[in-house]
Amino acid sequence: MDLFSRIAGRYDHIIKGFDLEKIIGDITYSKDALLVDLGGGTGRVATLFLDYVNECLILDRSFEMIKQAHNKSRNLLLVQGSGDSMPFRENTINQIFVNDVLHHIQKQEETLQESHLVLKDQGKLIIRDYDRKYVGNIFLFIFEKILRFGSVFFSPQELKDKCQDIGFSVNWKRLTRGTYLLSAEKSIKLT
Ligand SMILES: C[S@@+](CC[C@H](N)C(=O)[O-])C[C@H]1O[C@@H](n2cnc3c(N)ncnc32)[C@H](O)[C@@H]1O
Repeated sequence: MDLFSRIAGRYDHIIKGFDLEKIIGDITYSKDALLVDLGGGTGRVATLFLDYVNECLILDRSFEMIKQAHNKSRNLLLVQGSGDSMPFRENTINQIFVNDVLHHIQKQEETLQESHLVLKDQGKLIIRDYDRKYVGNIFLFIFEKILRFGSVFFSPQELKDKCQDIGFSVNWKRLTRGTYLLSAEKSIKLT
């Protein structure tokens, strides 16, 4: 059992609440479309998204984390699975949100590619994560190393380059000195 599964029942108490309203203006989202919260865990963020989008689906590899989301709201769609192999058909998803997850994912490259595959043209992959290059994050990096999370962090520019190589158009902005929000849009393929 991985660490998230072991701490699932206490996760929301360990991690502070999430202020979606602070960033919702920075996210271009479609109200009428399904939003996939990749690595959405206990539904801490997804339950907030229910006020903004029609449907929200959590895809998370930890069954224990998803169980917490189930206890929180019956309006969430819950799927156990991994970001590098999502159970969606190609070109079917409008928006994928990834909060505090990418650095935990082992197959990061594959997950970015898979996101590109399942997103529709002009669909968006929105990632909030911690900047590898911000010195103040050092305690977080050490903490996650001690817990043997195996985390791999990127700077926003590094992640932008990776997403562009895959075929996304990318913008990012700093949310705090140590965190950033990156929006990667699947470009329309001209035939
Ligand atoms: C730090 S928690 C963040 C949970 C949620 N996004 C939030 O902000 O509350 C990281 C989550 O990513 C999930 N996760 C890790 N690797 C994953 C993968 N390859 N595919 C899907 N979920 C993954 C973990 O199970 C865990 O629930």
